Amino acid sequence: MSRIFWSNTYSVGHPDIDSEHKKLVEIYNRIVDAVESFNDEPEDRQELMTLLVIFKQNIKRHFFTEESVLSRLNYPDLPNHQLLHFDSLGKISSIDVHGISKKEYRKMILETVGEWWVNHLLIEDMKFKDFILKNL
Ligand SMILES: [Fe+2]
Ligand SMILES: [Fe+2]
Repeated sequence: MSRIFWSNTYSVGHPDIDSEHKKLVEIYNRIVDAVESFNDEPEDRQELMTLLVIFKQNIKRHFFTEESVLSRLNYPDLPNHQLLHFDSLGKISSIDVHGISKKEYRKMILETVGEWWVNHLLIEDMKFKDFILKNL
């Protein structure tokens, strides 16, 4: 897993959404560091679980902000986007690194937290960028 370096190309054109995305990337990078320095000590698992909880709390708040902005602007594809948020939240909530091997949890984190970046932000959130730029 590698760290993400924020660049303006990741902007979706809305300051509140962008600043929450940046905050999530910051937590994401802390998760990457925790995964990379993981030594399978109980404190390592605890640290990772704490970071995942922080990520989950922030993403929950973020989905709410994003949906409120899109709803105010009457974004036509909002129902579909809400469903994707609901799905991501379910996946992230189900992560539990207690009692599983390093290989398993790496895969699990990549499939959940990593997927939020690759499939959600870079693909799904980018779909409303033009809409926001035209309607804000
Ligand atoms: Fe989204
Ligand atoms: Fe988002």
